[in-house]
Amino acid sequence: MRILAIESSCDETAAAVVEDGRTVLSSVVASQIETHQKYGGVVPELASREHMRAITPVVDEALTRAGIAWSELDAVACTYGPGLLGALLVGVTYAKAICKARGLPLIAVNHLEGHIHAVVLEHPQTALPALALIVSGGHTHLYHVRGDFEYELISRTRDDAAGEAYDKVAKLLGFPYPGGPILDKLAPYGDPHGVRFTRANMKGNALDFSFSGLKTAVLRWTEAHPIADEIAARRRLGSGTTVEEWLAVTPTATRNLIASFQQTVIDELLSRIGKLAAEHPVESVIITGGVACNAGLRQAAAQSRFGVPIYFPTPGLSTDNAAMIGAAAFRKFRAGDFAGMDLRAKASLAL
Ligand code: KG4
Ligand code: ZN
Repeated sequence: MRILAIESSCDETAAAVVEDGRTVLSSVVASQIETHQKYGGVVPELASREHMRAITPVVDEALTRAGIAWSELDAVACTYGPGLLGALLVGVTYAKAICKARGLPLIAVNHLEGHIHAVVLEHPQTALPALALIVSGGHTHLYHVRGDFEYELISRTRDDAAGEAYDKVAKLLGFPYPGGPILDKLAPYGDPHGVRFTRANMKGNALDFSFSGLKTAVLRWTEAHPIADEIAARRRLGSGTTVEEWLAVTPTATRNLIASFQQTVIDELLSRIGKLAAEHPVESVIITGGVACNAGLRQAAAQSRFGVPIYFPTPGLSTDNAAMIGAAAFRKFRAGDFAGMDLRAKASLAL
């Protein structure tokens, strides 16, 4: 059973061929980072245009790398939301066109369900019920995943997603987009308790997340410290810079700020999981999405005592990819859950 999966919800054009929901025969990801870098973030119109350009070669490459012909496919899956509408439309329309031309069934996958299946794909032993934290540039959502993959949203960010906070803080400090991975690499060189941030006091659902206050606190810190020269030096370096080169233009005070920011984000994420794991009888914890690549988060999670196994996808499957969409689609295929040719892309879509 082979599914061709297509993902185009944000700034990655991706296609994969997944066999029986388990074996990734190919996974191709074309990143648009370079296009968006000079604007410091994703520009929706440019994203759609880049997807249009990339979709045919990416899908062809996925089939070539899998070593299979079109006639050997059993279904086509695509992400239909949530995400940027124009970006989603490219993948949805392309998937429909293939289905129409080749008489294949279409499977519509929620991007968030895909992120959760990135873990299931690599760790089939993941036992349910589970707590699943999806932590990326667009989401910081915590779900209770019941048996048979029924989802209940327990808490979410009230403002910025964790990855968005990383990228905004990095931008404030003069690092290129996306700054999350750079801050993660520099965090071990600072004192994680060097700068004290006050924790967000949540009214209503105490398990909700909030990262905009933390971002503002970093802004205030930059205003109170004479760091204009180092920011200018970092802006000159841009992407492709090594850790040593970043460190040469990042003095101790700023290193401490970065380490403390990272520590605060990790504490916020893991403390919610810890509380919930104690309250809900779950069999496992899933942490997925771009920020799940974070080395500090992985280390801290490994040391935390949730009492149940914690699963992360490998970094290549943590960020946006189509293999996770193929894995989620397999379950829908088996359940006979197909989409019609009237499938529409949905910018906002709950899980
Ligand atoms: O899942 P993803 O590829 O796209 C979305 O669905 O948003 O996540 C991208 C986000 C970006 O904000 C990026 O800065 C963040 O994940 N990210 C990281 C790391 N690697 C990627 N944030 C912190 N530490 C990392 N190592
Ligand atoms: Zn994502």
